[in-house]
Amino acid sequence: MSRRIVIIQGHPDPSGHHLLHALADAYAQGATTAGHDVRRIEVAKLDFSLLRTQAEFETGTVPPALEQPRQDMRWAEHWVFLFPLWHGTMPALFKGFLEHIFRPGFAMDYKKKGFPRRLLAGRSARIVVTMGMPALLYRWYFGAYGVRGFERSMLSFAGIKPIRENLYGLTFANERRRARWMENMRTYGAHGN
Ligand SMILES: Cc1cc2nc3c(=O)[nH]c(=O)nc-3n(C[C@H](O)[C@H](O)[C@H](O)COP(=O)(O)O)c2cc1C
Repeated sequence: MSRRIVIIQGHPDPSGHHLLHALADAYAQGATTAGHDVRRIEVAKLDFSLLRTQAEFETGTVPPALEQPRQDMRWAEHWVFLFPLWHGTMPALFKGFLEHIFRPGFAMDYKKKGFPRRLLAGRSARIVVTMGMPALLYRWYFGAYGVRGFERSMLSFAGIKPIRENLYGLTFANERRRARWMENMRTYGAHGN
């Protein structure tokens, strides 16, 4: 079954030559070949300022550069996020992007009383993170807190499931392992998951 997929590249470097860009391309290639409908968002190439106040969060408008990305995310049934681990979590630019996108009415419908309504139910996600340290260390010693926080406070909170993840540690990774990661991405893309 064909799926609507959006790939959100969260690497802050717009030059686009990092492993994360190659991984995103591999995913896109696998997905397109299998007949899925793919759109792409490059956060580093979008011009926007950071959200500063709760009033702006609640009643302001999304910066013009983020309007299309927001529509693409609403359009998609499956979100693929990629970002490098910076100081244990996502880079600030990517977080700034998400703060704009996840405004009231997008992910959650906040009511005066009671638990907010989840607006993104029915969607799924994959989170792909590269890091310097071995992924096992990040997972077991640090509890993968940056990824868990993203998952729990933004994605599953808004009703997204399942959320799959790939944590890739670069320092000790040889060419064979990197090639396997690329192959993984092509397979996930083909499966649309
Ligand atoms: C500002 C900054 C902070 C970083 N913090 C971490 C970190 O906390 N843990 C880690 O394992 N790697 C860290 N790294 C390494 C990156 O995660 C790693 O270089 C990246 O995933 C690979 O992408 P690249 O193509 O940008 O090098 C950091 C890199 C930078 C530039």
